[in-house]
Amino acid sequence: MKTGFYQFAPVFGNKEENLKKVLSAVKDVDLDLLVLPEFFATGYQFVSKDEVAELSEQIPEGYTTKLLSELSRQKGFYIIAGLPEKYEDSFFNSAVLTGPDGFIGVYHKTHLFFEEKLFFSPGDTGFKVWDTETGRIGIMICFDWFFPESMRALALMGADIVAHPANLVLPYCPQAMPVRCLENRVYAITANRTGEENRKKGQSLKFIGQSLIASPEGKVLVRAPEDEEVLLIADIEPELARNKSITSLNNIFDDRRPEMYSNITFKKS
Ligand code: ACM
Repeated sequence: MKTGFYQFAPVFGNKEENLKKVLSAVKDVDLDLLVLPEFFATGYQFVSKDEVAELSEQIPEGYTTKLLSELSRQKGFYIIAGLPEKYEDSFFNSAVLTGPDGFIGVYHKTHLFFEEKLFFSPGDTGFKVWDTETGRIGIMICFDWFFPESMRALALMGADIVAHPANLVLPYCPQAMPVRCLENRVYAITANRTGEENRKKGQSLKFIGQSLIASPEGKVLVRAPEDEEVLLIADIEPELARNKSITSLNNIFDDRRPEMYSNITFKKS
């Protein structure tokens, strides 16, 4: 099964340009699943609630989700992509899943990063896994990776592949992701972006690229450079993620002892 990501530098506020770029990048590629970055069509650094309101869309009725659904239909592949969502009176940092039959579902980012907290509501969907023809797909968004509970929850729910739209600025994720995959025996596809945004005085954001696909054995199958716009593809076998045995006597899920770490479900006060 061919999975890929498209790493690029979206131009803030220019949906037409960003969507055009994505359409052109996938024009001649043969894929089963594509992951695009967080806020891939809008850019990342919002500086006011008005801007968020202007660029957010309803899901699935909004323009971007409709376009992705149509692209999935035409190309026959699944897409996971991040976008700001207007939902009733709230805004969420969301990711949609579309497939050959159109729109499938949406996830709202659980762990908001930095100034996202000024503009977006913390996600209320919980982690979700969809059983598709190309395997069981779970989604987390960018900073969710920092909380091991995110990928653990998705893996325990049966995810084979964790799609991870991102706009990473801290340096740690590309090193950590293979370990997250190893400890949960899942595939992960981190689609990060490149470039810089300097929309707020004294607060320049440099995105670190290095999008990657990692395997249940903790191997990096492909990794993008820090600063290049690229679409990279890796062949994966989702069934491999269903084998949680690492020796004849150890199955990493059966061996878990939740009663010994039940305190992780409580917040330290
Ligand atoms: C992030 O969550 N966009 C770092």
